[in-house]
Amino acid sequence: MTVDSDNDLRGLMAVGRIVRAVFEAMKAAARPGMTTAELDAVGTRALAARGARSAPQLMYDFPGATCISVNEEAAHGIPGARVLAAGDMINIDVSAECDGYVADMGESFVLPPVAPERAHICRAVKAAVRQATRRIRAGCPLNVIGETVSRVAVRHGYGIIENLASHGVGRSLHEDPSYVPLDNPKERRRLRDGTVLTIEPFFTTGRTWVEEGDDGWTLLVAPGALVAQFEQTVIVRGDRAIVVT
Ligand code: CO
Ligand code: CO
Repeated sequence: MTVDSDNDLRGLMAVGRIVRAVFEAMKAAARPGMTTAELDAVGTRALAARGARSAPQLMYDFPGATCISVNEEAAHGIPGARVLAAGDMINIDVSAECDGYVADMGESFVLPPVAPERAHICRAVKAAVRQATRRIRAGCPLNVIGETVSRVAVRHGYGIIENLASHGVGRSLHEDPSYVPLDNPKERRRLRDGTVLTIEPFFTTGRTWVEEGDDGWTLLVAPGALVAQFEQTVIVRGDRAIVVT
């Protein structure tokens, strides 16, 4: 969507605070021995307590309130019987609708004990998103995001998943522009003032594409490879970007 009123701005910031709070509640609750279904139930309660609805449930009939992806699962992991273990890398992706506005965020983190290479990939992907966010402004090429993210990935020796897109958001979960956050000199689109979009690269140590698992939802990287995502929703606003989540 394009933000064109203070109401839009307030509505987006409000749902952005909600998805962030839901994520933090889930992250704080995550511990070894818990199933991903139990962790998702924390999310369900946290969304309901704030008057928000799960966007993947609402818009895609996703079988969970949030996406919880563990270790080799990159994205769209279905909450279920999988038991969390010490040292697991967990990605929680929370997107929600409240008062007609939608925000989307996600983050990978590690349950202690934290292996250094797992902490490193989480830090690197977050740094890439933060740097890209600082560089965007109204009228700049969309590819500024991919360029920046690619530079950070190369510097740290990671690949970027090529078949997982970042996307416009705001009224619905997936809107235009859809783009893969890696350097693409053929990308000619520009960011318009007021555009709301996510920046959500996935860094990996294995092959740079994901494959769908048997459940028809979960997206997997190569066996044994690490994958980490960091996602935030931003609004392009004049000479900068406002972080919503
Ligand atoms: Co997301
Ligand atoms: Co997203």
